[in-house]
Amino acid sequence: MITEKKILTIDLGTSSIRTALTLVKGDKRQTTIATTPSRGIKNGNIINVPSAKDSLRSALNRLKLESTSALPLEAYVIVPGGCTLGYEVEAKISFPGIKTINYNDVNMVKNKVKDEIRRRRGLTLKSVYEIIHILPQEFIVDNVDGIQNPIGHSGRELTMKAFVILASKSYLRTLDQLLREVGLKLKGVVLQTLASYYAVKDDKTYFNNNLFIYLGAGNTEVLYLREDAPVFFKHEPFGAEDVIDFFIQQLKVNRKEAERLFKEYGSAYAFNVNPEEVITINYGTKALKVQKIVIPALIHLQLKKLVKDIKKALDNEDPSFITHLNRVYITGGFAKLKDITTLFEKLFKAPVVVVSPEGELKDPALSPIEGVVNYVLSLNRRERLTDIKEDLTKDYGKEGFFSAIWRFLTQYI
Ligand SMILES: Nc1ncnc2c1ncn2[C@@H]1O[C@H](COP(=O)(O)OP(=O)(O)OP(=O)(O)O)[C@@H](O)[C@H]1O
Ligand SMILES: [Mg+2]
Repeated sequence: MITEKKILTIDLGTSSIRTALTLVKGDKRQTTIATTPSRGIKNGNIINVPSAKDSLRSALNRLKLESTSALPLEAYVIVPGGCTLGYEVEAKISFPGIKTINYNDVNMVKNKVKDEIRRRRGLTLKSVYEIIHILPQEFIVDNVDGIQNPIGHSGRELTMKAFVILASKSYLRTLDQLLREVGLKLKGVVLQTLASYYAVKDDKTYFNNNLFIYLGAGNTEVLYLREDAPVFFKHEPFGAEDVIDFFIQQLKVNRKEAERLFKEYGSAYAFNVNPEEVITINYGTKALKVQKIVIPALIHLQLKKLVKDIKKALDNEDPSFITHLNRVYITGGFAKLKDITTLFEKLFKAPVVVVSPEGELKDPALSPIEGVVNYVLSLNRRERLTDIKEDLTKDYGKEGFFSAIWRFLTQYI
């Protein structure tokens, strides 16, 4: 008998609040999603808790009605990049002699990573931020590098290189409170762009010199992958809603008209638009005929600045990030913008792919949700440690024995 796993995911976005229940049984998955317009959230920040709570409650109620199965009492929440920081850290522990590395040793090196973060970034960081992910890049046992899971290897020294993500304590506290008020426990959080990466990550693809960009309504988040592990993270408080604000400001139109123009004529690459074509812009009782190219030109301008900022940040960190860049993956609702790949390919000088989940969740805006499910399931796989913060539990030491029995049970009974 294969047991069924239920994963409840909450995405508190700037434009929508999404709740999703995924039932996982063996290789089969079924996800039900309920969405409500988001209120009280801007650029990923919960600025009005009562409004956010009402939106979340109504999304959850809708999910309860639409799913065939009862909701679990705990949920994973997608965390926007704005309240987080990312650092690369390396730590090493030595043993008195040669020993076989076990769960406790990995835990020890993990604690050393935490100490290293505190030492490097000072005590202020500790009081304001909390570690949410410790993503191993590689383990090194004596001189052997590139190890994905060191348990069972023997040596005198264990080194861990990791990418550590921290989130603001006050944001996590607000999340915890918000969930408690709707009767849920906060089981875990996943960084939005990490979740987006997990929507495409599989055992077959080796991500090297790849850039992931999540483009949402209020956030742009980038994650750079080298040798199949995250090495750089950056957030920009910019998204599709900011383009609409730019329309309001530049064209002096009201919000409704700005949204209509964006929806009807929005595209990223102005050079693909016929300069002769004319559209109508409405100003209350008056209407004005203007060249259609004005709309994509305004978006083109904004995105060009965004890409410039991203490239500058990458270049500051390591110039080879840009020179070696071999593919850009974009996702999030704003990645559905017409001609965005054309513009990004010109600006990044690399192929650009729009990521959308396979199967029933075929929408780039849903890739963080798909990714959270993949991420949660990846924590059970033992050949590679995915996130030391989340998956290292005490019974890990008994893994060999139990997993063999478990495999036997699930395969033959
Ligand atoms: N076809 C499209 N072209 C351009 N933009 C689009 C398209 N479809 C949706 N969008 C934009 O995508 C945004 C929603 O994306 P998404 O759901 O990923 O954002 P969010 O999660 O609410 O926000 P965030 O994560 O930034 O807080 C909306 O602002 C919408 O305008
Ligand atoms: Mg989002």
